[in-house]
Amino acid sequence: MKVNNTSYNINDIGKTVTLKGWVQKKRDLGGLIFIDLRDRSGLIQLVIKPNTPAYESALTLKSEYVIAVIGEISQREQANPKLLTGEIEVNVSTLKILNTSQELPFEIDKTTALEDTRLKYRYLDLRRENLKNNIITKHKIMQSTREYLNKQEFLEIETPILCKSTPEGARDYLVPSRVNKGKFYALPQSPQLFKQLLMVSGFEKYYQIARCFRDEDLRADRQPEFTQIDLEMSFSTEEDIMTLTEGLLAKIFKDVKGIDVKLPLNRMTYAKAMDLYGTDKPDLRFAMPIADITNILQNSAEMFSKAVSEGGIINAIVVKDAADKYSRKDIDKLTDYVKTYKASGLAFLKYNEEFTGSISKFVDEEMASKLKRQLDLTNNDLILIIFGPKKIVKTSLGALRNKVAKDLNLIKEDVYAFTWVTDFPMFEYSEEEGRYLACHHPFTMPSDINTLNDKENAKAKAYDIVLNGYEIGGGSIRIHEPKMQESVLKELGFTKEAALENFGFLLEALAFGAPPHGGLALGLERLTMILCGTDNIRDVIAFPKTTSASCLMSGAPDIVKKEALKELHIKVD
Ligand code: AMO
Repeated sequence: MKVNNTSYNINDIGKTVTLKGWVQKKRDLGGLIFIDLRDRSGLIQLVIKPNTPAYESALTLKSEYVIAVIGEISQREQANPKLLTGEIEVNVSTLKILNTSQELPFEIDKTTALEDTRLKYRYLDLRRENLKNNIITKHKIMQSTREYLNKQEFLEIETPILCKSTPEGARDYLVPSRVNKGKFYALPQSPQLFKQLLMVSGFEKYYQIARCFRDEDLRADRQPEFTQIDLEMSFSTEEDIMTLTEGLLAKIFKDVKGIDVKLPLNRMTYAKAMDLYGTDKPDLRFAMPIADITNILQNSAEMFSKAVSEGGIINAIVVKDAADKYSRKDIDKLTDYVKTYKASGLAFLKYNEEFTGSISKFVDEEMASKLKRQLDLTNNDLILIIFGPKKIVKTSLGALRNKVAKDLNLIKEDVYAFTWVTDFPMFEYSEEEGRYLACHHPFTMPSDINTLNDKENAKAKAYDIVLNGYEIGGGSIRIHEPKMQESVLKELGFTKEAALENFGFLLEALAFGAPPHGGLALGLERLTMILCGTDNIRDVIAFPKTTSASCLMSGAPDIVKKEALKELHIKVD
């Protein structure tokens, strides 16, 4: 079997070795030919002298030719500290070309090609050092996960890919059944119901590195098919699942990055996260919390008092020592930005012993001193203020907080700020559907069954794990009694018949001695993205889809032959 080319070092001088790999670069110095030979493990330098049998073949080599060489390891005159094998080179005596390569659509070791071109030739793109390393990191995370969960006596169990389509959640990918005319399978959005059923079966501790499929609008951290580290445990409390997950994350960080994560991880309630950061996935690598200054400013300008009389709030973020960095034009740009979050506008103050800025004329002495105290102002602070309905104010200031931190480079690299977000609402109102949906999913245990019909305030035993502003995982304690499950489905608008039609198999199973249980799923790609330092999910997937859910390399999705559709009893308009 082939040995890694980079397993050789200065201690191997004089050894005759056989190496195989790709020609990354060839330099013909007239007399000598130098080759950077690449394999998965890295680069090693080959030297081919004239008058050796290898020389003639070496002259014909081009980038990405695949070769096998035999040669002797010697010390390099000038070491290259950037390479693992930087102290040695191999004097080639025999060279065999195993395969040639056409001219490449882009150079492997340069990243200037358009992403579309790189996606079309993804197998070449994956030869690049950083993409290759990302894929290796993902492998390490998966192995670390298996090691950890196996040790905790979890069983790795597969669940079906061809499933029943159920309402709730994102849109399903549907697969027509040839045998069952007019019927469709759905690809799983997650193994949620199956893992609960495994608890009913008595497996107690389950995990799976599970492929999931969701037909939703794609973003930089979302793909239509992705992977979850999915787990479920019987007789578990929220505390049990959180402690288990913390141990898993700590092991992954140690194994993959050598970093000791300090446990227990930070926790905050959903209400606090929304209040201070305007989001349920706060980026805690920097401070800049949202402050409520409704009481201070409500009687200043008419626009403020009007907003407050309509039930609104006035909130602000303080950008420390940045007043001089923002011109009027810059503030206009921020205003345009917050408007995309439905904010009506952006007011600002600059503090330098006294206040200047768009609303300074409304700030009297008393207000000024209150602002100074509450916001802990020092000279050159910039105060960005949004007023209006609470949800809009919080969300837009939360987004602005992230933007300003990015613009001003306030986010330190290699910082990993974890937090649990707990006590999620049971329901959330969907403007699009004009009804309440389950905030996590319909199988989540309410914190208090008696407050279930207070849809705005009912809480759930649900928790998310957040890292650097990404939701890297989420889970909950599940309902294990059919009656309670029926009540929750009823609150979600399911009639008894609809509940039975869609979730009958679950309701039935819960009636046969379902143990109390709970679990969680981590988004493997999101975790890998953060550990690889990229904000593009495609960078951690070997063969990803574009934002329009297509594969530029294989051409999926594609039209199919008429006969194939006929067999499936499908007509396409
Ligand atoms: P949830 O829907 O929160 O929970 O998903 C769990 C985690 O999966 C990741 N994730 C995604 N990653 C990439 N692309 C996507 N389209 C995508 N969607 C989700 C996120 C998310 O936190 N069955 C429940 C888990 C449970 O309750 O045990 C579930 O699927 O990181």
